[in-house]
Amino acid sequence: MENYQKILNDCSQILCQVLEKKCDGPIFNMDPIIHRCMLHVICKIIASSEKDIQLNKDVTYPEDVKLAVKLTNSRFGKIWLHSDFIYKLTADGKLKKAVCKKIHDFGLELINERREFLNKIENPTKDDEHSMSRLFLDQMMDYAKARNLSDLELSMAITDVIIAGSDTVACAIPYMIMMLALHQDIQDKVYEEIHGIFGDSNRAVEQKDMSEMVVMERVFKEVLRHCCPPHHARRVDKTIVLRDVPIPVGSTLLIMLYKLHRDPQHWSHPDAFYPDHFLPENVEKRQKYTFLPFTSGQRACPGKKFSFIVVKTLMTTLLRKYKITTTVQPSEIKHIIGFMLEISDGCNVQLTPR
Ligand code: HEM
Repeated sequence: MENYQKILNDCSQILCQVLEKKCDGPIFNMDPIIHRCMLHVICKIIASSEKDIQLNKDVTYPEDVKLAVKLTNSRFGKIWLHSDFIYKLTADGKLKKAVCKKIHDFGLELINERREFLNKIENPTKDDEHSMSRLFLDQMMDYAKARNLSDLELSMAITDVIIAGSDTVACAIPYMIMMLALHQDIQDKVYEEIHGIFGDSNRAVEQKDMSEMVVMERVFKEVLRHCCPPHHARRVDKTIVLRDVPIPVGSTLLIMLYKLHRDPQHWSHPDAFYPDHFLPENVEKRQKYTFLPFTSGQRACPGKKFSFIVVKTLMTTLLRKYKITTTVQPSEIKHIIGFMLEISDGCNVQLTPR
């Protein structure tokens, strides 16, 4: 975790370099900037990549993923395009093929970069402990070798992890930034907490700080109540009865988080942004499975704990430097479905130095 913390601090500092140019200027969309930062974090963590993702404008991965998701969602609702044979012949089908190739090429570049590094290092030094340790990508490369998987298959597997790890948090953070811009009283409380932990020092964020960020944690959970994945899909492998209706084996059940997370039976302020939903006394009153952004059980998200660390580190770095405001009105916020429920027009805010 110490290595991860260093990566998060380094990536947050580069994020601030990018934001420095926008600071005190007109309103701008932070969404693509956060997506790049998160992609940088994940590529460093799983592959120790040296790619200059945040500053190099040629990296279009986040935009490519967004387009692939948009095309997939639009196909979903058009039953006549469900046949692969027909879809491949359409303009959307051809575009999807091209964009998926770009996404997998990015994975191939990470694999090649790592192989070159490992071949080059004969006498490892302790200079960069993270790149010398056994990374997630190294384990995946061994797995692929043992099963004779091609590099493209390996790239597909790591693409799942890159997207699962970067796109989710990169949707949640802009949502959080927008909510803090709209609710200055909540931003002040989060800032007070940060100031209480760090004072006026500029020391880096450390693991020991995490447990002290209780207000920040409540705010993040409230963000996830609003902007989590819209549903979880599960196949029924044993007949179950729901409200007297038997659900047969083989059906697909969609657990609609959008509804569950806004059910007035469980949430006192279902449509408002109200972090006090997560005060211990309120959590205690709620039933166990009423808040499921990471789902639960065997296929629950393995990145849950890490997400909290990422969000706390990035948001602390941002809020220590900037006050966030916006001219957007709450009524203007519209949502769009990607992997998560996102703000459709992006995260349009202004930053002023503290
Ligand atoms: C706000 C942050 C996140 C949310 C809301 C989230 C949510 C989820 C959900 C709901 C699933 C289960 C999908 C399903 O089976 O239906 C999942 C799976 C997964 N998540 Fe996350 N996730 C987040 C962050 C992360 C991070 C940071 C990582 C990795 C660093 C990660 C890695 C994964 C992986 C690898 C899976 C697939 C697990 C499997 O196939 O069993 N996630 N995530």
